[in-house]
Amino acid sequence: MGAFTKDQLASALKSCRFVKDIQYFQSVDSTNIRAGGLAKAGAPEGTLVISEEQTAGRGRMGRTWSSPPGVGIWISIILRPNFLPARATLITPLIAVILSKVIRESTGLDAGIKWPNDILIGGKKAAGILTEISSVQESIEYIITGIGINVNNDCFPEEIRNQATSLRLSLGHSVSRLKLLTLLLSELERQYLDFTRKGDFGNILSEYRKRSVTIGKLIAIRGRKGKITALDIRENGALLIKDSAGITEEIISGEVHHIIIPSKNKT
Ligand code: BTN
Repeated sequence: MGAFTKDQLASALKSCRFVKDIQYFQSVDSTNIRAGGLAKAGAPEGTLVISEEQTAGRGRMGRTWSSPPGVGIWISIILRPNFLPARATLITPLIAVILSKVIRESTGLDAGIKWPNDILIGGKKAAGILTEISSVQESIEYIITGIGINVNNDCFPEEIRNQATSLRLSLGHSVSRLKLLTLLLSELERQYLDFTRKGDFGNILSEYRKRSVTIGKLIAIRGRKGKITALDIRENGALLIKDSAGITEEIISGEVHHIIIPSKNKT
């Protein structure tokens, strides 16, 4: 369902000047690994690596990313922004804002952002972002931003079944991957170029805050004891938290679990 050829993809992306080269595969280990190899060999910004299937799709925190053939969008894009490595932490929130906007506008689904990089629909994960940075001294050599969207999956491996969803499962009908990808890349072109040219993160941050399903929630953070409240997202993409002793702190990366407080019995 929703299959497309490399030619159809190239023709759909013709007007997207940001995409300089399309590396299309039926099956690869991981598009991030392929894109990393290409970037090291000098491939330009705007190189898109896309595969129908990944046999070793990578998620954050060393996890795998289930990437069966023909149902998802599994892509990696090479970026070469001309700013200091410290600003590279803003790429993931930027992509999260773009993803939530494109999913919302093309499907009507309420796609929220769970800090730092999960796109949730109805509390379940529908998309994720894996950003990998290579920097030399004080400059960015390249950034690989890997995006996985569960588009038309109708089932998931046992171990993630309770936490994962797809657009198709959420909507009750399948979605054109080609249309979604075209929208995603044209929005990426607009917002990434705007961000790198003007260096302004303000608009992105206010959109991120609006779409955040983490701010204001009681959360648990892997590797930390106790319950913590998520207060805000900062200008550097960090999460501002307050622990049970009232101490506030910024965390730049980590694994957040939302705590669901069961409602009290009315009887
Ligand atoms: C996460 O939420 O853990 C990040 C998931 C990122 C998955 C995408 S799929 C395309 C790209 N290639 C990979 O191996 N991973 C990313």
